[in-house]
Amino acid sequence: MKILSFESSCDETSAAVTEHGGGKNRILSNIVASQIDVHAAYGGVVPEIASRAHTEAISGITREALETAGCSPDDIEAIGVTAGPGLVGALLVGVSFAKGIAASCGIPLVPVNHIKGHVAANYFLEDPPEPPFLALVVSGGHTSLINVKTYTEYETVGRTRDDAAGECFDKTARVMGMPYPGGAALDRAASEGDPFAFDFPSAALPGDNLDFSFSGLKTNVINLIRKYESCGAAVPVNDIAASLTRAVCGSFVKKVEKALECGIGGRGIVLAGGVSANSHLRKSLGDFAKKSGIPFYVPDKPLCGDNAAMTGAQAYYEFLAGAVAGADLNADPRLGDK
Ligand code: KG4
Ligand code: ZN
Repeated sequence: MKILSFESSCDETSAAVTEHGGGKNRILSNIVASQIDVHAAYGGVVPEIASRAHTEAISGITREALETAGCSPDDIEAIGVTAGPGLVGALLVGVSFAKGIAASCGIPLVPVNHIKGHVAANYFLEDPPEPPFLALVVSGGHTSLINVKTYTEYETVGRTRDDAAGECFDKTARVMGMPYPGGAALDRAASEGDPFAFDFPSAALPGDNLDFSFSGLKTNVINLIRKYESCGAAVPVNDIAASLTRAVCGSFVKKVEKALECGIGGRGIVLAGGVSANSHLRKSLGDFAKKSGIPFYVPDKPLCGDNAAMTGAQAYYEFLAGAVAGADLNADPRLGDK
């Protein structure tokens, strides 16, 4: 079946056509209109501006997604849309647009949880993961360890108690003068630095839990940068980036290992979310999985960030599970494990 999907939870407007069936998921088109340039001047996403930019972009990228896929609206059998979590005004643009198309074409409307969408980016792999598995979702707004029991049944077993990992990367990158969002630039800088130059605190919370805290780590790094600046010394950007990355990767490996000890591994470890594009995180978690003899999955880099193809993949499994919405579907900025 062919699904037309929408993603507008934060600062990318995306429309995609995906095809599913016979155990295969295929991307026919995946158009992403990024708002990074619009928000760069403010050093972060401005919700009101994001909503307006989604409104301007969504019709054009929908046409482009259909044209690129070589489809007409008649070929589409369902509409998928990210319904939460995310910025409410931004989500509402996608949800309202999706409702309109589903109603006018007379086809089912399938709401998708954004976190599940990120995980579903892995279903486009040549050899995709099959639940049950352990998922680590790391993005600009989320950091969660999830027991994925079935394609649609999720149980969050660990989470950040404050900042997301992406936020920690972006804020420290910004203080070091890197362009917004700094995650990718910090990744490159880390490749040039000494990961053992500084010993930053772990983001893995002590004790019998699977939770994280990134605010202490972030403050520690920013204080160090300010110390260099206050005495007029050059900030060792690459060494700080490498040492911060080592601390973050080590924290994730520690809690993933603990989750496996608790019997939550299932058939493998799945990494997802915008920060899963980080080359060091891909490598350290991949190495850990290999050492432990557990299959490891991570999406191709272009599918790590927000995009509608991942929404389409999850929409397919939600559709099979009968999770179709009515015309009263609303955006839910705090959508949980549903
Ligand atoms: O999933 P996403 O596109 O949006 C949210 O749902 O939040 O994630 C965006 C985050 C940003 O924090 C960005 O800096 C980060 O993903 N990111 C990276 C890399 N590429 C993007 N972080 C670390 N290393 C990267 N290579
Ligand atoms: Zn995301």
